[in-house]
Amino acid sequence: MEEKERLKQLAAESAVDFIRSGMVIGLGTGSTAFFAIKKIAHQLHNNILKNVVAVPSSLATEREALRFGIPLTTLDEHPAIDLTIDGADEVDPGLNLIKGRGGALLREKILIQASRRTIIIVDESKLSSRLGASSPVPVEVLPFAWKPTALFLTSLGGPNIHRLMPDGRPFLTDQGNFILDCNFGPIEEPVHLALKMKERAGIVEHGMFLGLVSDVIVAGQNGINHLKIK
Ligand code: A5P
Repeated sequence: MEEKERLKQLAAESAVDFIRSGMVIGLGTGSTAFFAIKKIAHQLHNNILKNVVAVPSSLATEREALRFGIPLTTLDEHPAIDLTIDGADEVDPGLNLIKGRGGALLREKILIQASRRTIIIVDESKLSSRLGASSPVPVEVLPFAWKPTALFLTSLGGPNIHRLMPDGRPFLTDQGNFILDCNFGPIEEPVHLALKMKERAGIVEHGMFLGLVSDVIVAGQNGINHLKIK
């Protein structure tokens, strides 16, 4: 296994140790979250964990969870989640995040906001001194509005790329929306930028997760580092 994959697995499996029997959990999306899904399934099948039900953050995660036999539920049945485990594209020193490379940012943000606790799992390459330094900010937009929204985002300092599938068709989120990947570079004032985006009709959600999580498990060459904000 490639070293980065090994680190993702290490972070993911450490987070699974925080799940207790009887919990309602949120399942993130992406390659790191996938390792958590596999570990949770293993623990359920071996009765190490019991009576756990999960809300998936995307259709892709739903498929994986079903494939591995994890019992699923919905936010209608369980509007409060005990613990969500998810990956991230970038993590700053204040544990603010950029997420959405997999396109699931809207449902991921909903799950995190519905969770008593979230643990973000990353390999050390995701750590960044300032949000935007290494990742574009994915922005989910209504297809009807995508062209003026692309101009608007450029005017905010984020020249953007309309995310496409390998065959050239637009990438569609689980809600049927488009993604614009915005290259802001290192972002001086993320809160201000987030407010500007929130005010704009046509922007469904953006991939900056500011002040939403207080636990990040980072796997690196020297092992596990559990970053926390009290
Ligand atoms: C999914 O939309 C994303 O937010 C992922 O959680 C994020 O891109 C991390 O993915 P990897 O674990 O695959 O790097």
